[in-house]
Amino acid sequence: MCYAIPGKVKEIGEKSVLVDYFGETRKAINEFYDVRIGDYVCAQGGFVIKKVSPSEAESTLSAWQELFFELKQIDLRLSRLDLKNKGIDKRLSSILDNALENKSLSLEDLLYLFNTESRSGIELIYKTANFLRQKYIKNSCCVHGIIEISNYCTQGCMYCGISTHNKALGRYRMTHKEIVDSALLAIEEFGFKAILLQSGEDAFYTADRLADIVAEIKAKAGVLICISFGEIGIDGLEKLYKAGARAILMRFETSNPKIYERLHPGRSLNTRLDHIKKAGQIGYLIMTGGLIGLPDQTREDIINDIYLAKELQAEMYSFGPFLPHPETPLASNSPPNEDDVLKALALTRLIDPEKSKILVTTAFETLCPDARRHGLLAGANSVMLNVTPIKYRKQYSIYPNRAYDKEEITTQIKETIALLQSLGRAPTDLGVN
Ligand code: 5AD
Repeated sequence: MCYAIPGKVKEIGEKSVLVDYFGETRKAINEFYDVRIGDYVCAQGGFVIKKVSPSEAESTLSAWQELFFELKQIDLRLSRLDLKNKGIDKRLSSILDNALENKSLSLEDLLYLFNTESRSGIELIYKTANFLRQKYIKNSCCVHGIIEISNYCTQGCMYCGISTHNKALGRYRMTHKEIVDSALLAIEEFGFKAILLQSGEDAFYTADRLADIVAEIKAKAGVLICISFGEIGIDGLEKLYKAGARAILMRFETSNPKIYERLHPGRSLNTRLDHIKKAGQIGYLIMTGGLIGLPDQTREDIINDIYLAKELQAEMYSFGPFLPHPETPLASNSPPNEDDVLKALALTRLIDPEKSKILVTTAFETLCPDARRHGLLAGANSVMLNVTPIKYRKQYSIYPNRAYDKEEITTQIKETIALLQSLGRAPTDLGVN
């Protein structure tokens, strides 16, 4: 999934190639392959992940050609923006006009948007975000697969259902072989081109052991590997990069240091941020973000979170609702409502319209049934499918009643493709110009 439609190499630079997709060109970093002009490659997240034979490429391209343009038309139609909205207050109109003209919005402007309560006003914010998504990124939608390799965790994060607070939870740890096999199944059988490996901070899975797993998957398949194992140290980040991982998902959870420290006993926001910055310097694509609706978190905090993610040069923004888990100290808190989450996604698009991938998280899909469609129509352009073996999924209980705990991969793919097609989105990761 996340079909990397093969593209034809048009130009070759020092470290990158220019790839043509049905007349549109994109740049991709090429580290591993010997490619010449006219070769076909698959790229993902801006990296060439695979060379493809001409016969395979041409058959995939001919299957896609008609659909590719059809989907673009549907998307264009659904993302049209009617600026002559009646009954919209002047200030809201003027802020959204500025966003459309690519002028930067002040904190006050963004707060004004966040505090908008009228239905017509809220809908216009979402539509503006969707319009900007279409304008800059077109209709490609990333569909990554996640494998949750272990729910052991040494940390006591106050909100997290796999933290040390949860004494009732049965723990599991996939073996090296199970992880490699699951990844290869997702890549070879189901067509995933980007796989996220995630776990709690599990002392068994040292950076060396994780690096062996990443290296074996990379040796056997063309894929973008993204890691998410918590704070594995700078040395660990380097080892995993050397092994072939090229993206990291590490949320800073909240940019408010007081809230951060209250929720993460013994840890500091600065250390977290150092990890993320260092990962960026090493060369990882950064996926980051935070939780929406934490106790004592204000709307201003959430806007600051988005600014911080932008400052960290997020390739993908990952913001999802905090969902209280009964076996944690925050059990009696309430989750945010759907509009708070959608507003955060839409504001993210307004703050970083041109290049960002914005994820509809599984937590959001757990909070409300139509989250994926609503999120994709409010600025988001990325989803994550769960390819962890079903027997383990329920135990990866970071929050309760997680969506997709029981669905086969084939069912998830079918549903995702149907939704994306209805919205005119292509499950591709062509990257940006
Ligand atoms: N609700 C929502 N998200 C949660 N996470 C952990 N616990 C919860 C919860 N109760 C998220 C954290 C972490 C990611 C892997 O899961 O943001 O970064």
